[in-house]
Amino acid sequence: MYPRDPQELIAFDAAHLWRPEAPALGDLAPLIIDSADGCWLVDVHGNRYIDGASSRGAIVHGHRHPWIDLAVRDQLARVAHTSLFGSTHPPAILLAHRLANLAPWGLERVLFAPSGSAAVQMALKMAVQYQRATGATGRTLLAGLQGGEHGDVAGRVGDRTPDPFHAICRGPLSDAIVLPAPRQPGGDEERACTEAALELLERHAVTLAAVVFEPLVQVPSGARMHGPAYLRAVLHRARELGVLLVADESWVGCGRTGTLFAMEQVGVAPDLLCLGRGLAAGVLPLGATLTTAEVQAAFADSSPARARLIPDFAHVGHPLACAAALASLDVFDNEQSLERVRRGERHLARLFGEAGGGIGPARHRGMLVGVDLPDGEEVPGARATKVAQVARELGAVVLPARESVVLCPPLGIPDEQLTALVRILIRAIRRE
Ligand SMILES: Cc1ncc(COP(=O)(O)O)c(C=O)c1O
Repeated sequence: MYPRDPQELIAFDAAHLWRPEAPALGDLAPLIIDSADGCWLVDVHGNRYIDGASSRGAIVHGHRHPWIDLAVRDQLARVAHTSLFGSTHPPAILLAHRLANLAPWGLERVLFAPSGSAAVQMALKMAVQYQRATGATGRTLLAGLQGGEHGDVAGRVGDRTPDPFHAICRGPLSDAIVLPAPRQPGGDEERACTEAALELLERHAVTLAAVVFEPLVQVPSGARMHGPAYLRAVLHRARELGVLLVADESWVGCGRTGTLFAMEQVGVAPDLLCLGRGLAAGVLPLGATLTTAEVQAAFADSSPARARLIPDFAHVGHPLACAAALASLDVFDNEQSLERVRRGERHLARLFGEAGGGIGPARHRGMLVGVDLPDGEEVPGARATKVAQVARELGAVVLPARESVVLCPPLGIPDEQLTALVRILIRAIRRE
C-alpha cells in the first residue's frame, strides 16, 4: 500500500521518527520489521529473526495468529471504535464477563484502560481514594518493590478543577516507599530482603494506602525474580496492616509465568490487579484493572465519602482490542497454551543446565529468562546491549534490560526455535 524502499525508510526514520529511547545496537542500522509470522520477524531486507522479545512481552501466541486476526477483522466489519462513555459494546461486555469468571478471589469488576500504564495509574488512584472514602484518611502513601517500574502516565497538567481523581495522588506517587526485593529467588538475599521489607511496612503501618508490585518477575529491571514465599510474607503483613494490594501483571500476566495470572502461584488475593500488554495478545493496546465489589462500592453514589473515578481516555475498552482479547482467551483454551509454557519452562531448564559456566547468573520462570551481564567499569547496560547486537547478527531479537538480557519469546514457541534462541544468546554472550 505504501512504498517500502529500505534506504528511504532508514532516512525518514532518522529524520522524523522520534522513537522511545532504547540502547543503540552499535553500528547496526535500525531493525525495520516489515512482517512477521509465528515466532519469526522479517525485516525490510527480507532477513528473518527469531523473536525472543515479543515486542517487549506483548505478543502472546505468536504473530498473525489466524483466530485472533479473524476476530479483529470480524469486529472491524461491524464497528472499529465506539466509546464506553455513556454507551457500551459487546466485545467489552463479553471480555469483562470472561475476565471476571477467570480471575480468582472475587476480582469481578473490570475497568478497561488504553494501556498497562493507564491501568496501573488508575489502580493506584483507586486504592488511595478507597482508603480515604472508607475513613482511613491518613493512609496516603504508596509502597513498591525495589526495581519496580510500573509504566508511564503521571497524571494531568493544567487547570481542571475540581479534579480529586488526579490531585489525590500527586504526593503518593512521588514519595513512594521502596521495599527491598531480591535479584534472584531464594537464598540469603531473599531472606534479608523479606526482613527489611517487613520492617519498613511496620514503620509506615498507619500511613500506607497500598503496595504495588510485579509478582514473581520484575521484568523492566532485568527480570529480577523473587520466590512466592517472599511475596506472600510481604503481602500477608501488608494486608494485616490494612494496606491494599495492587498486583501489576502488565508483564507477568496473560500466561507468561505459566499461569494465566501470576498471582495464582503466590496464592494471595490482591485487591486490584492490572493487566496490560498481553491482554489483547499484543496485537492491539489494551489495559484493564480488575477489582472487587467491595472496592467498587466506595465509588458508588450511595457511598458516604464517595470516591471519584474520572479516567479520561477516549480509547478505553477499544472494541477491536477487546475482540482480540476474547480470541486470545479462546486460544489459551484451544491450544493448551499454559501447558505449552510449562513444557517450554522445562526445556529452558535443560538448555541452561547444559550450557555450563561462563554465561553469568541465569534465572527463568515461565517464558521469561533473565541473564545478568554486570558491567564492571563500563557504562551501565553496555554489555547487555553488545550481547543484543551480536544476537541480532546471529539471527535473534533479544531484549537488553539494564545490566541483563531478557528473553520473552511468544508462549507457544516450538522447542527447536527455543533451543536455537537460547543457543544464539549463549553464543552472543561468549563472543561479546
Ligand atoms: C511492570 C510494568 N507495568 C506497567 C507498564 C506499562 O505498560 P504499557 O506499556 O502497556 O503502558 C510497564 C511498561 O513497561 C511495566 O514494565
